Amino acid sequence: MKENKTKTLMVANWKMNPHSPEQALELFTSLKKTASQYKHITTIVCPSAVHLGLFYKKTTQNFLLGASGGDVEDTGAKTGLVSLEQYKKMNVSHVILGHSEQRSRGLSSHDVSEQIFVALKKGLTPILCVGESSRDEKGQYIFAIVNQLKESLANIPQAKISKLIVAYEPLWAVGSKAKRGASVAEVEEVAILIRRTIADMYDMKRAPQNPILYGGSVSEGSFVSKLVELGAVQGFLMGRASLSATSFKPLLDAVGK
Ligand code: PGA
Repeated sequence: MKENKTKTLMVANWKMNPHSPEQALELFTSLKKTASQYKHITTIVCPSAVHLGLFYKKTTQNFLLGASGGDVEDTGAKTGLVSLEQYKKMNVSHVILGHSEQRSRGLSSHDVSEQIFVALKKGLTPILCVGESSRDEKGQYIFAIVNQLKESLANIPQAKISKLIVAYEPLWAVGSKAKRGASVAEVEEVAILIRRTIADMYDMKRAPQNPILYGGSVSEGSFVSKLVELGAVQGFLMGRASLSATSFKPLLDAVGK
């Protein structure tokens, strides 16, 4: 494998899985054991918030904890919510923000922009998810992605922008209802678009170096290795494939060897 200064990021988005703390602990332990074999990969496990307490003392330099969403206020009368500050106190280093499954329940790009702002202030690394709901021949999806990026970053000053990770997650490719994942060419195109949009927004002369991830039905080793080899993305956001070491390991193998 080529010497990469930046490690490949493999984000395990467990969503509302698994059911029990025992199963969560078993999964965490098996992924951690597997991931410890790859020096050039940083794995970020994003469990359900109720399971964070099981793991917060078990991270290593290459095996970190992430969370999803998070309220921008540190504390207060908000039944059922978890604050970004509470995540931080649970040893969380990364937060997935603007995931389509949260946007579909009413999260706006304005809310996402506030979350990114507060996360950055607290030293948490935001993973901003953007992606179109469908593809069309006229290329309207390009505008959808650009608008989502612009609105989600509306609050973010240039001095902080280099700390951001962006995940391209086309809605049509995410989750068990997806008919297919994106192709290498589709991801490459949008990764360039994301860098170009950030460069335009912040008047940058050179393409920004923010890590770009792809997420949506990731399951094939050949797909992930190709994208990393091309330098199109610097990692992946995985749902279903991260729910067992058996499906996760071939993906680590494909980018970590
Ligand atoms: P999937 O989920 O890999 O199960 O498609 C990806 C995501 O929602 O981040």
